[in-house]
Amino acid sequence: MRGTDLKPRIERFNAAERVAHWMVAICFLYSAFSGLSLWSHRFYWMAAVLGGGETVRAWHPIGGAMFAAALGVLFVKWARQMVLDRDDLAWLAVGHRYAMHEEEGVPESGRFNAGQKVLFWVQTAGALMLLVSGVVLWFPQAMPRALRLAAVFVHPLAAVVSLGAIIVHIYMSTLVVPGALRAMTKGWVRPGWAKAHHGKWYREVAGK
Ligand code: HEM
Repeated sequence: MRGTDLKPRIERFNAAERVAHWMVAICFLYSAFSGLSLWSHRFYWMAAVLGGGETVRAWHPIGGAMFAAALGVLFVKWARQMVLDRDDLAWLAVGHRYAMHEEEGVPESGRFNAGQKVLFWVQTAGALMLLVSGVVLWFPQAMPRALRLAAVFVHPLAAVVSLGAIIVHIYMSTLVVPGALRAMTKGWVRPGWAKAHHGKWYREVAGK
């Protein structure tokens, strides 16, 4: 329902993209909190919040598998759009200015800017490492000893990298870029937002 708001809107994410994204977010947060509670006694209070140690032990790998599956859906939808081009490399050289709202001299972006693209590939690599090492830890009796040892090392390392990337992502998309969150909840943005943050994409969709 648009109600009395007749100002122009541009669709940024369709319903399927938004559902897949929020599935990824929920499953990731569950896996992260349950995983932290299994990793160190300092975080054990999180297990108490999530239903107790046994529940968390049983559901953490299932949450992780669901996270990987949901991210797989986003991968299929977005991977081609996340390939970096020549303009993205120029963007990365001055991208820190974007985070500080000094956008002069920062090249225009397409649907996703170079920072978002880099984070996408970091998240994809992190998820792949978490999935493979997680399966090894899930079924240890079926795995050779060398693989189990590697998984014990890789799983927390990949988790720390993924958590770092997600903290940056949540910070950028909620606090640094006002209007971005609405794109992922309601699906649309104002033309002014599109022009300011994703100029090339704006011209494509607005035909200008
Ligand atoms: C509560 C947590 C999260 C919030 C608040 C959030 C918020 C958002 C928002 C607002 C956008 C749209 C940005 C735009 O229009 O340009 C977005 C896009 C995206 N999100 Fe999330 N997100 C969360 C969790 C996650 C997780 C866990 C992942 C993956 C592991 C993820 C992956 C992505 C990707 C790949 C995009 C597209 C590119 C980008 O904007 O970085 N998100 N998210």
